[in-house]
Amino acid sequence: MSEPLLLVQDLEVRYRVRHGAWGRRAWLRAVAGIDFAVHAREALGVVGESGCGKSTLARAIVNLVPRAAGHIVWGGRDIAGLARAERHRLRRDLQIIFQNPLASLDPRMQIEDIIAEPLRVHRGDLEPLERQRAVLDLVSALGLALELARRYPHELSGGQCQRVAIARAMILHPKLLVCDEAVSALDATTQAQIIELLGTVKDEHGVALLFISHNLQVVRELCDRVLVLYLGRMMELAPAQLLYAHPLHPYTRALFEAIPIPDPDIQPARLAHTVPGEPPSALTPPPGCVFHTRCPHVVALCRREIPAWEEVGDGRHVACHRWREI
Ligand SMILES: Nc1ncnc2c1ncn2[C@@H]1O[C@H](COP(=O)(O)OP(=O)(O)O)[C@@H](O)[C@H]1O
Ligand code: SF4
Ligand SMILES: [Mg+2]
Repeated sequence: MSEPLLLVQDLEVRYRVRHGAWGRRAWLRAVAGIDFAVHAREALGVVGESGCGKSTLARAIVNLVPRAAGHIVWGGRDIAGLARAERHRLRRDLQIIFQNPLASLDPRMQIEDIIAEPLRVHRGDLEPLERQRAVLDLVSALGLALELARRYPHELSGGQCQRVAIARAMILHPKLLVCDEAVSALDATTQAQIIELLGTVKDEHGVALLFISHNLQVVRELCDRVLVLYLGRMMELAPAQLLYAHPLHPYTRALFEAIPIPDPDIQPARLAHTVPGEPPSALTPPPGCVFHTRCPHVVALCRREIPAWEEVGDGRHVACHRWREI
């Protein structure tokens, strides 16, 4: 495979929090030991339950939270060491969109100006007419109705707002788009449309995606590979086809069992099904395998020793002492 676009190496992010009856200050390790690469034009999914560190990972990659350890390497260089002009360039190449686009769209600006804003900042060489043409071209390429260009964010639906957020992210021709729960707040039909749009962004515009979602089914539609996180640690990483056909890690399997089946005859209780048991607090992660308090296959070794991140062939990695036998 080609040289990776983005390399995340041994990343750790901590938050300073207060906890307990006395409000003592402590460090919460939101993610630790994170190691993966994203290649040009691929879509890498990141999944796991709420609180497993997905947003922290996204924010660390775009430099919105400081790291306690590790490297984020872009184009062969750690982004921490980039000079000002290179950081400016990186902000063009690496874009992020969030779950709630309305909150990130300036309510006083027309859609056309919102999408053009990054051009004003990064492409001072363009004349106003060239800027306008670039915006309108992109708006039609992304399937947004041209008449929306003159509207304001509050006049748009959730799906239209998310299209605008994608257009604003795309206007500078980024190389990587980080999507943090970008479709989670939308209804199923709109979700499917936005997924299709992101597929176009990837296949036709050649943009790599880091697509974060708590929903394994949504990730399946779009992603080439999938990384599974639990309590801020990596559990499994595999090509999507293999992961969905045969998950190796007990946590990945539990996530699959928790997927609601879209069948009207199925009881509502079944639809609400989640992974059994509560995840432990990230402030006091269990020793050994962090999943051992919920794992049906736990043995004494799991409580004692952290499983290695093993490469198991076919581009798959897993962190479980017992993946061969279960
Ligand atoms: N700003 C913050 N301050 C303190 N703790 C935080 C902060 N943001 C997230 N956390 C904690 O870090 C862990 C990971 O959170 P997050 O990255 O938001 O997970 P996810 O996006 O998977 O739901 C959780 O335990 C969460 O409570
Ligand atoms: S290491 Fe042990 S506890 Fe952890 S997932 Fe594997 S079998 Fe379960
Ligand atoms: Mg999140």
